[in-house]
Amino acid sequence: MTKNIMSCETVALDNEHNVLLIVDQTKLPGRVEILSLTKQEDIHRAISSLQVRGAPAIGVAAAFGAYLAACGISSNDYDDFSRKFKKSCDYLASSRPTAVNLFWALGRMERVVSGSKNLPVSEIKDMLRDEAIRIRNEDAEVCRAIGEYGLTLVNDGDGIMTHCNAGQLATVRYGTALAPIHLGRSRGYGFRVFACETRPLLQGARLTALELMDDGVDTTLICDNMASSVMKRGWVQEVFVGCDRVAANGDSCNKIGTSGLAILAKYYDIPFYVCAPTSTIDMSAKSGQDIHIEERAPDEVTELWYRERMAPAGVKVYNPAFDVADSELITGIVTERGIARPPYSDSLASIQNMRNL
Ligand code: MRU
Repeated sequence: MTKNIMSCETVALDNEHNVLLIVDQTKLPGRVEILSLTKQEDIHRAISSLQVRGAPAIGVAAAFGAYLAACGISSNDYDDFSRKFKKSCDYLASSRPTAVNLFWALGRMERVVSGSKNLPVSEIKDMLRDEAIRIRNEDAEVCRAIGEYGLTLVNDGDGIMTHCNAGQLATVRYGTALAPIHLGRSRGYGFRVFACETRPLLQGARLTALELMDDGVDTTLICDNMASSVMKRGWVQEVFVGCDRVAANGDSCNKIGTSGLAILAKYYDIPFYVCAPTSTIDMSAKSGQDIHIEERAPDEVTELWYRERMAPAGVKVYNPAFDVADSELITGIVTERGIARPPYSDSLASIQNMRNL
């Protein structure tokens, strides 16, 4: 029998053997394969090839990757250790450019080292392991809190549209955009979820549909270009999406196709919610224009998920992985510290100034 994906750990550390464990998401939904990774090159590749993906999960994988890098440094001299550790963190940070959680998590790991100048290297390594585990455990708590706030925005029986996968497979537990759905489900709510397939890499079809069905949620898969038609029929009461980076003015960068959904939701007068851990808010980005949008390989569009190539050889391809939903299209940004409402420059700043959870 195939394993229920909700019982799998998306990203974890095998403490005994010092190995990073991830569910290989490029194999889903066909096969649940757990990868055991220790080498920096393999962890970098796992992130860049989307074997592990989703902003929070990438951050956790990178934190464990940084810890494993530290374990592989034999020097006991602080300066030498610290230089080599920084080089490894820079390398892991180069795996993907858009999700701020990657840099946020590596920044936390680097601060453990920079703040421990007078400690023996062996002790610093233990502290790095503890910090990575903390980052992981906090993610589950943060997602749960987002789920609780998100649940206050929906009613039993609602139709909810979502894009890409911002679920448990993108985090440690619950997800962000899917957290209210999972929590609601465990409390007996009956939502009807429309999952956009999310071209070109099909995170909606392959991952969201699998995760929601495994949780027993009523799930309908649609092609991205069907969203307007489904909304027009009155089947959608809210849209919930995740995000990779929120700018200080509330512009929210998420999987390509998100901004189109936000425009449609505005047209049909459907609330559009972005779910974002505060670690995803980047106050140094004034607006969406300051966010680096990853561009990925042309073959993802022309052939990767087809049995045979579906576009003429040599055609030019533009393949941005993300886009930005403008803040004026967003009804609310759901964080673990509460729901930010427009004007976002004020509400996000005060949420960022609050203490943790
Ligand atoms: O390219 P991916 O699959 O990593 O993109 C993921 C998304 O766009 C998610 O919506 C986002 O990272 C939030 S995950 C909680």
